[in-house]
Amino acid sequence: MGKTETHASPRKLNDQDYSLRPMSEEDLQKIMVNERLAYPYPWTEQIFLDCLSAHYSCWVAEKQNQMLGHAVLTVAAGESHILNVCVNPATQGSGLGRLLVVHLLEVAKARKANTVFLEVRPSNKVAYNLYLSLGFNEVGHRKNYYPAESGKEDALIMALVL
Ligand SMILES: CC(C)(COP(=O)(O)OP(=O)(O)OC[C@H]1O[C@@H](n2cnc3c(N)ncnc32)[C@H](O)[C@@H]1OP(=O)(O)O)[C@@H](O)C(=O)NCCC(=O)NCCS
Repeated sequence: MGKTETHASPRKLNDQDYSLRPMSEEDLQKIMVNERLAYPYPWTEQIFLDCLSAHYSCWVAEKQNQMLGHAVLTVAAGESHILNVCVNPATQGSGLGRLLVVHLLEVAKARKANTVFLEVRPSNKVAYNLYLSLGFNEVGHRKNYYPAESGKEDALIMALVL
């Protein structure tokens, strides 16, 4: 992607700009605001509730009381899946997405996962570039996986060996 054309390079966040903590049900209202702003086809609140009750690894990043982003990971039998990474559009491009994914990779490693998988839309160049820059490789694709304006869009499957 022509990063120089689109990447506005806003100030990068540092450790003092945000805090990361496990998600709770009380966060869902704020999470849903960001989820709906960031995704054309957002998760429902019920999906987050299911992730929480299944004890998936669910995280939020916030600044004082402001919800900046969230991320969800599963780990089972040596395999980990990144299910959601979302940054409020006003904060995008300041490094938080990278920090969230790096945090998920640390969690996966601590829980003895060997490989981390994720699905991404081929049209989502920002996310694709982020994963590529962290060492993920394309390992396959799922046909007609995502809803899209013109019907369905395939998913690229990416994997990182830890
Ligand atoms: C994808 C997403 C999580 C990335 O988070 P972010 O905070 O915007 O990204 P970062 O600032 O951490 O940037 C990470 C990398 O993404 C790429 N990137 C970020 N913004 C970009 C832009 N405008 N154009 C091109 N590449 C961009 C760069 O490779 C960047 O790395 P670098 O700045 O160190 O060179 C965020 O944009 C988002 O929430 N998007 C909507 C939801 C979504 O698509 N989630 C992923 C589903 S698979």
